[in-house]
Amino acid sequence: MSDGIALTSGGIEMLDSIKDMWSKLTMDASKHSTHFSSYFHNKRWDERKSELLRKASRGPFRVDLATFGKNKMGFCISSIIDGAGEVESLFVEECSRGRRVGEALLNQSIDWMRENNARTMALFTVYGNDDVLKFYAKQDFRPISIMLMHDL
Ligand SMILES: CC(C)(COP(=O)(O)OP(=O)(O)OC[C@H]1O[C@@H](n2cnc3c(N)ncnc32)[C@H](O)[C@@H]1OP(=O)(O)O)[C@@H](O)C(=O)NCCC(=O)NCCS
Repeated sequence: MSDGIALTSGGIEMLDSIKDMWSKLTMDASKHSTHFSSYFHNKRWDERKSELLRKASRGPFRVDLATFGKNKMGFCISSIIDGAGEVESLFVEECSRGRRVGEALLNQSIDWMRENNARTMALFTVYGNDDVLKFYAKQDFRPISIMLMHDL
């Protein structure tokens, strides 16, 4: 990327390096969620990491990290299970937004999905975070369904 921004990629060994940004992502999700703010607020990294490790054991798995010098700017986690590709998480630090870091991370993921013969590529976004749909629409992602949840 331009402006001294570097993109690096790897596998599960990179997961711990994105823990702090993942926490900010869940806080952002909690802020935007229309009905499930506390659900996102209560999410814990150790549970999410375990879930990601299980997915990584079932198929190709990738972490992309954007940095500027020693500063982390954003990350993207991607998985493919039985040909179904998924962007697990995408996040750019607030102070780094609007510099095409999100677009670059997502494009890395799209290229990787193609290289690994994913048949589909999907992602989940928080209901209530309408703005992010405009970002994804620019990358040709369009809504297909709405997931409903009960608190139990
Ligand atoms: C969504 C996110 C990843 C975008 O990253 P970014 O680096 O700021 O986005 P980019 O600079 O690459 O933007 C690319 C294009 O999308 C547009 N865009 C980015 N965020 C947007 C938003 N919230 N609303 C509308 N358009 C947006 C940009 O204006 C740009 O458009 P252009 O091609 O017409 O110039 C970042 O805002 C983020 O991490 N948000 C919080 C977490 C989140 O919502 N993650 C996704 C969860 S599924």
